[in-house]
Amino acid sequence: MADGGQDLRAWDRAQLLALFDPATGALDRRVLSDEALYQLELERIFARGWNFMCHDSQIPEPGDYFISYIGEDQVIVVRDEEGGVNVLLNTCRHRGNALCRAEQGRAKSFVCSYHGWNYALDGRLIGVPGLKTFYHNDIDRSRLGLARARAENYLGFWFATLATDAPALRDYLGDVGRTGLGMICANGEVEVVDGVQKNVISCNWKIAVDNLFDWYHVPYSHASANTAGFLDIAAIQHPQSQMVMLGEYGHAIGGPGIPRERQDQIDAMSDEERAAASRAAPPNSPRIRPRAARDLMGPVGVRSEGHPNIFPNLWITLGGLQMCLRLPRGPSKTELWWFTFVPKGAPPALRRAMIAQANHVFGPAGILEQDDGENWSQSTRSARGFSSRGLGQYIGMGLGHDQAVAGEDGEHYIESAVGEHGQRWLYRAWTEWMAARDWTELKANHTPPPTGPV
Ligand code: FES
Ligand SMILES: [Fe+2]
Repeated sequence: MADGGQDLRAWDRAQLLALFDPATGALDRRVLSDEALYQLELERIFARGWNFMCHDSQIPEPGDYFISYIGEDQVIVVRDEEGGVNVLLNTCRHRGNALCRAEQGRAKSFVCSYHGWNYALDGRLIGVPGLKTFYHNDIDRSRLGLARARAENYLGFWFATLATDAPALRDYLGDVGRTGLGMICANGEVEVVDGVQKNVISCNWKIAVDNLFDWYHVPYSHASANTAGFLDIAAIQHPQSQMVMLGEYGHAIGGPGIPRERQDQIDAMSDEERAAASRAAPPNSPRIRPRAARDLMGPVGVRSEGHPNIFPNLWITLGGLQMCLRLPRGPSKTELWWFTFVPKGAPPALRRAMIAQANHVFGPAGILEQDDGENWSQSTRSARGFSSRGLGQYIGMGLGHDQAVAGEDGEHYIESAVGEHGQRWLYRAWTEWMAARDWTELKANHTPPPTGPV
């Protein structure tokens, strides 16, 4: 029996598109529990999309590697002798053993622990024990190198895809994805803190993703954080506080936005004045970004104080202090990987303070994620029940009440009260990715970011 207790039947295009209705906000709960849909996600979403691997600072020298995933395919992200970065499937071409067991490190080559085949940092098969004796020199090593993914980086963030026909990373990210990564670098160059925090939650990966657009749950789910003085809910959730940016292929940013009038005042300030105003602000207030941030985030993006998600599963937390991968581990299980970024060469006291802040907000010890994880698990569990999965979910908040407008650089955004525009955009994109057989179909049939009533 499949994880979700349902048949492993094939889904056709019309059925896939019907799983979410953007006109009503009705979501079929099988999206969160069906094993056949999950297998199709691995193929049509994870293998096809650009997946975040790691940051340049994690693999600075030749031989440095970091183990990551494209869906459930484990990969070695490794810098070679020439300084290039290779993303290699971590599976030996002999009998499939994993080549690299450590989560990160430095290697001269990768030797399989089963029979000793040896692979260079670029994946070439360079050593086969018994080449003459047992194989009689009758083996074509050039055809048995490690399988490779395409790898590209933007601002030092490495991504990989298994789709040869995927657009270039920069085009895939579009303005919203680039704004998201720009948010991390808005205050200058960054590096990853050693030690990616990893934990598993019994939830479907999309529940964890859609929650980052959800600012409706904050006062209720996180009431204790408000009571403890950790959050000022009144300040972040007043009416018309929200700015949602919608990007191509399902990327989106949701959460508080800086009103245009306030941004006009900020634009008139020097970097010194911005730094002084940030120091004078109450604790936990978002830092005012320097002038250079506008180049990285665009004129609309720079007003965002929300959460970007780079489709499918890369969340950048507000302020760009952390990012979190929601890695699928079956329809009902998600592995969360937390990366913390600090300014390159930050003084020890600042570095410590930023790490403490990161540890206390999100991640396995974070005060917020402890609340969230419980809700995600229960929403996922109920999607497996025979009767409850037939009920659907209602994602209709704000539907038909707001306007999407185009910014001066072509960004598409909605300024409104708290709503569910980001969640609808995610599930709409998900159905379109799932229904398309290849990138040609996806490019032709995906919904472009809208202008007008939403
Ligand atoms: S499985 Fe790797 S050498 Fe045999
Ligand atoms: Fe939350």
